[in-house]
Amino acid sequence: MRLSNIQIPRGTQDILPGVVEKWQFIEKKAKEICGKFQYKEIRTPIFEQTELFQRSVGDTTDIVQKEMYTFEDRGGRSLTLRPEGTAAVVRSYAENKMYGQAVQPVKLYYFGPMFRYERPQAGRYRQFVQFGIEAIGSDDPSIDAEVISLAMELYRELGLKKLRLVINSLGDSSSRKAHRDALIAHFKPSIGEFCGDCQQRLETNPLRILDCKKDRDHELMKTAPSILDYLNDESRSYFEKVKKHLTDMQIDFVVDPTLVRGLDYYNHTAFEIMSEAEGFGAITTLCGGGRYNGLVQDVGGPDQPGIGFALSIERLLSALDAEGVELPHEEAVDCYIIALGDEAMDYSMPLLQQLRREGFSAEKDYMGRKMKAQFKAAERLHAQHVLIIGEDELEKGLAVIKDLQTGEQKDVPLENIVSFLKREG
Ligand code: HAM
Repeated sequence: MRLSNIQIPRGTQDILPGVVEKWQFIEKKAKEICGKFQYKEIRTPIFEQTELFQRSVGDTTDIVQKEMYTFEDRGGRSLTLRPEGTAAVVRSYAENKMYGQAVQPVKLYYFGPMFRYERPQAGRYRQFVQFGIEAIGSDDPSIDAEVISLAMELYRELGLKKLRLVINSLGDSSSRKAHRDALIAHFKPSIGEFCGDCQQRLETNPLRILDCKKDRDHELMKTAPSILDYLNDESRSYFEKVKKHLTDMQIDFVVDPTLVRGLDYYNHTAFEIMSEAEGFGAITTLCGGGRYNGLVQDVGGPDQPGIGFALSIERLLSALDAEGVELPHEEAVDCYIIALGDEAMDYSMPLLQQLRREGFSAEKDYMGRKMKAQFKAAERLHAQHVLIIGEDELEKGLAVIKDLQTGEQKDVPLENIVSFLKREG
């Protein structure tokens, strides 16, 4: 009996050669920018104790309630594939006592797969890769502006132009409390007209009602109390300073008081970067982040403030596609060896080794092809030079080197191959 074909799990994707180069290019760019901004890489486990996400992302959020890949290990512990990166970074910060490090604030970045059991659609996967940064230990508004500017800088350097930065302030805990009470008073009398989720949210987390997709057109949504009217003086002045820094850095933004974000740990600055490219699709958020003072303490560390963002490479690639931006392709082969005859074949192995050690990307035929087919293979790989060695050439101690761009061809003594290729560049 033949088993039915096994397919890739829903909401995941294989990243194949030809596309993976784009991922590598983006990673390289992001790492370069992090270097300039002095963010250091951190790598944390793919799974964490489930409780970490319940406490940080929040028990009442969609992520924790509906989207986590949670399992029990053989020792009976509840573990969860990370749905996002911030919780783990903050856990690691507390556990490794990074608040005691000499260099403060602690500036970290990460790259890696995240897992959410969502309904797969364009731009929404069950496994996706986030690039994110976290700056922990400072509550100076300039670090908020720096974090936002790093994301904008990455997009700018990659060539994206049609972006919209949306910011909001969620205020400190007393502002949030005042706003929460106002939201409850606003929605309570008519909560029966809202979906079941919203009815639950009224008591647990009324701010999330503003983010409901089902009830977004309800009349009461438009008239809901704005957080900006409930910010106390300190929160308002903090927000003003963040905006001033952004303006001084010539980073355009719009303030949207309905931006609430889908995770519970935020306060003060919250932001998202959207793509405005035509044909980008329904989900336009490329990047999301914000401040999370209090989170370090929630996961067992001291009271240290923090701010960060995350963006997915999948959505970044869609935005590049939508704007027609081509990333440079750096994979061309410097030298393709065409060997004819057994002796030349044998000779080509140590030669390949030497070329590669000298820093060239070098390739040869492994399929027993005829000369013409080997030329074709070299062209397909966009080889810069082909190096032809046959019995005759070996006897004379020569190789023929042909530049595939100019068509120029030269006899080069075998011992001069490396220096010749180096001169040719
Ligand atoms: P988030 O808004 O849940 O925030 O996700 C950040 C970004 O991850 C989104 O803007 C989007 O680019 C991408 N993303 C989220 N879900 C998916 C998906 N299913 N498929 C593809 N891409 C997706 C966070 O994760 C926070 N940890 C961000 C943060 C860092 N806040 C402070 N520091």
